[in-house]
Amino acid sequence: VKKAIIMGVRADQGLGAQLAKRFASEGLHVFVAGRTQSRLDALTVEIEQAGGKATAVCADATNEEQVIKLFEKAGSGLSLAIYNTGNNFQGQIIDMDAEYFRKSWESCCFGGFLFGRETVRRMVPSGKGTLLFTGASASLRGRANFGAFNSAKAGLRTLAQAMAKEYGAKGIHVGHVIIDGAIAGEKIKRHLPELAEKLGEEGMINIEGIVNSYAFLHNQSPQSWTFELDLRTSIEKW
Ligand SMILES: NC(=O)c1ccc[n+]([C@@H]2O[C@H](COP(=O)([O-])OP(=O)(O)OC[C@H]3O[C@@H](n4cnc5c(N)ncnc54)[C@H](OP(=O)(O)O)[C@@H]3O)[C@@H](O)[C@H]2O)c1
Repeated sequence: VKKAIIMGVRADQGLGAQLAKRFASEGLHVFVAGRTQSRLDALTVEIEQAGGKATAVCADATNEEQVIKLFEKAGSGLSLAIYNTGNNFQGQIIDMDAEYFRKSWESCCFGGFLFGRETVRRMVPSGKGTLLFTGASASLRGRANFGAFNSAKAGLRTLAQAMAKEYGAKGIHVGHVIIDGAIAGEKIKRHLPELAEKLGEEGMINIEGIVNSYAFLHNQSPQSWTFELDLRTSIEKW
């Protein structure tokens, strides 16, 4: 059976969990990774009840040993790997602690390197597989109050681009998805209800639409690969 690893999974109405459900429904055994065991367990139970196969692995994306263990647990047959970790670290540079900036870079960029490296180490010998990274508006532009997050997401994007060029000819499809705007999911609706209210449903990016884009990339043939997709609502000013 083909396997998928998704790093950065928590809320049910979050992108990571929705990607896991979609790829499980397409027959992949999904390994869902994040730092909150209880949330991962609830998701795997739900996937299994729906007839899919899922395994929860508690792992911090910034910890090399834990990332290696995650891949060892998944074992052979890795067909899809998604690096979805990337909490937004806001704040002005003038009073930002060095440790805060480092944490942002570690989870949004360095963790992508650890995850990407372990992925290609396993996929290159079989000559096939898909490695996808989740980006944001921050991947393309710097913005006041978002310097820590912007710089890390931009680094993740060029890492993805380098890996696409390094491993494309070896059969590995590396892709990057820029989510340009707020996702209509738990993070915005539950934690930033005022923003959700202001944007309205039509002003937030639909998770199902995002998930469809990842599935589209994964199912492309090597003769017509896309490196990058950018997604935004029809009313987004960009
Ligand atoms: N939400 C938005 O509006 C939005 C907009 C544009 C782009 N994006 C991007 O989309 C992706 C998913 O966002 P989402 O909001 O839908 O969240 P999500 O997929 O529900 O969850 C991502 C989860 O990653 C986990 N995580 C954070 N740091 C981690 C670490 N060091 N190691 C392992 N797991 C870690 C967190 O769960 P734990 O704390 O339980 O580990 C977090 O909830 C992110 O890359 C984000 O930058 C989101």
